[in-house]
Amino acid sequence: TSLKNYNSFGIDVKAQKFIEATSIEDLEGVLRKTYSSELFILGGGSNMLLTQDLQKTVLHVAIEGKEIVSETEDEVIIKAMAGENWHKFVLWTLEQGYGGLENLSLIPGNVGTAPIQNIGAYGVELKDVFVSCEAMNVQTLQRSIFSLEDCDFGYRNSVFKKSLKGEVIITGVSFRLTKKDHNLHTGYGAIQTALAEKNIKNPGIKDISDAVISIRQQKLPDPAEIGNSGSFFKNPIVTKTKFEAIQKEFPEIPSYQINTTEVKIPAGWLIEQTGLKGYRKGDAGVHKNQALVLVNYGMATGKEILRLAHKVQKEVLKKFGISLEAEVNIY
Ligand code: EPU
Repeated sequence: TSLKNYNSFGIDVKAQKFIEATSIEDLEGVLRKTYSSELFILGGGSNMLLTQDLQKTVLHVAIEGKEIVSETEDEVIIKAMAGENWHKFVLWTLEQGYGGLENLSLIPGNVGTAPIQNIGAYGVELKDVFVSCEAMNVQTLQRSIFSLEDCDFGYRNSVFKKSLKGEVIITGVSFRLTKKDHNLHTGYGAIQTALAEKNIKNPGIKDISDAVISIRQQKLPDPAEIGNSGSFFKNPIVTKTKFEAIQKEFPEIPSYQINTTEVKIPAGWLIEQTGLKGYRKGDAGVHKNQALVLVNYGMATGKEILRLAHKVQKEVLKKFGISLEAEVNIY
């Protein structure tokens, strides 16, 4: 089975076998019959680069559904199953008038994979609205609930990328959303500009979602048209001392202060300085509007994208002495 339609990079590799689980019972059935070491768990496929055929059984988690777990006058706890498309789910919450996910509009992928890298955009991270998630252990089939604390969320990171990597399958996620007095995050410059352009002074959750959608559409390639996995690298965090040394040579370098000793630098800016923005070799390229995004113009192989990623890392290291770490999972 070709996985081309199951990964947003559009890489054409094959899986030995492909199984879809549309219910918890399905999932249990598959796990009972197959050794976990022979399985490759696939969710939305939007944060991975496949560089070779998989000599494994690909288990596509496609469990759908959502429900209100509880609600008060002010808040609602919603549980969505892992296979729900993230953006469709976000739009649904907004239609109900529930606030909290608006800044996370148009992020590719599914609900079940969102906690793995603690998806984030425009001043909000998944952890800000996260209540818990339920997961199944791939070996013991035991089902358990992970609280916010259990997940140990960090910048594009969680326990599911660390000690529990490959150990559990997230089956559903619960969110705490607001019914009124929404906690709006409009601080991000691009959001303010987008709202001002439409002359919106008192934005609601839908206005913010619309703003985020238009910003993303301008900057980020649509995976349905050009294969990509969003930001390919993490924004590096360096010591203040190192940052100041770089700043001496590049006074216009953008940055976000993390704490008194650390600074985060946008990797997109670093890559652009190397001259690689818009670079293309074959069908593998660095996106012309956002250098942090590597793209597949059609027929690129995973290895070609990986080679390009290494080239980007090498050039950034040479120019700034900074090692970029991949944000996408490479297989
Ligand atoms: N920049 C450049 N050149 C570029 C790209 C960016 O100079 O080619 C500069 C911009 O001018 C800006 C800064 O870098 O000053 C930041 O750029 P942007 O606002 O586009 O955000 P980012 O840091 O590149 C991060 C996330 C995105 C998220 C945006 C918005 C990571 C790895 N990426 O990107 O997340 O949408 O912020 O919040 O943290 C993703 O994870 O896949 C993703 C798209």
